[in-house]
Amino acid sequence: MRINHLKEAKEALLGSVMRVKTGISGLDELMGGGIPAGSCVLVSGKVGTGKSIFAMQYILKGIADHGEPGVLVSLERDKQGLYDYASKFGWQFQRLENEGSLRIIGGPISNVVTEMKKAKAKIGELLSEIVETVKASGSRRVVLERVDLLSMFFPEERDFKIQLDNLRDRLAKLNCTSIATSEIREGREELSRGGAEQILDGAIVLYYNSEGLEGDRALEIRKMRGIGHSNRLHLFNITDNGIVIQNLPGKRKPKLPREIEKAIEPAISLSALRKSIIG
Ligand SMILES: Nc1ncnc2c1ncn2[C@@H]1O[C@H](COP(=O)(O)OP(=O)(O)OP(=O)(O)O)[C@@H](O)[C@H]1O
Ligand SMILES: [Mg+2]
Repeated sequence: MRINHLKEAKEALLGSVMRVKTGISGLDELMGGGIPAGSCVLVSGKVGTGKSIFAMQYILKGIADHGEPGVLVSLERDKQGLYDYASKFGWQFQRLENEGSLRIIGGPISNVVTEMKKAKAKIGELLSEIVETVKASGSRRVVLERVDLLSMFFPEERDFKIQLDNLRDRLAKLNCTSIATSEIREGREELSRGGAEQILDGAIVLYYNSEGLEGDRALEIRKMRGIGHSNRLHLFNITDNGIVIQNLPGKRKPKLPREIEKAIEPAISLSALRKSIIG
């Protein structure tokens, strides 16, 4: 209670929302210092756009730069797969796990489904395991890798949204700030299967232009409840140290007629986009 009062007083004095640094170089400046503390932000993009690297970087930087323990829930990779992928960027997940600052749960979705069937477990138990792991480890950051896959456990979209909202709420009450990644399916307009973008507090969209031109990756902050943020497209690179936003002024998103906007896919060709912006 006292902590909450202090937090509120500090926020009132600052006249702003407390922020959590993403650890993505150059991104926090685009939203006044970071994502709102206690929020759960969707990071969405088509295949290969950088979702997993973003998620791993967020957890790693929390531990390495801010001493904040983290929980990584992956429905995409098993532990060894995560150790191997993270090590490509010099991030020693196995060591962090051994030291107790990182907890990894989940596994490839097919394994999770098989194990749940064997144990006659329900999806609610996995969600509770996430919350209990956060509580037990005193974690401040959570990553839900491929939250869209969770929606497959719910025949009705409405039920998925209720459970996701509930999880978001429980994590916020534990003072956790979370990133949930999701795949944008080809030919679909929605940012996430199951409509996670409607439930979560923010949404960052990653784009990739497969034509291989210079500056072929970009991101935009689509929404971030309660704070102001850039509404432009920002080019970024994936380097051996993770994601780095290019230090260039962002390109204004073109204002297209509504019917054209509806017709284009979210991962619009960036070269075409640039052409329409700068000619
Ligand atoms: N060391 C590196 N240097 C530069 N680019 C890299 C490096 N490692 C990976 N990449 C790029 O990052 C892409 C994959 O990033 P990431 O795994 O985060 O994407 P994703 O959106 O999670 O993909 P998926 O849809 O497969 O889950 C690769 O396809 C590659 O283009
Ligand atoms: Mg991935």
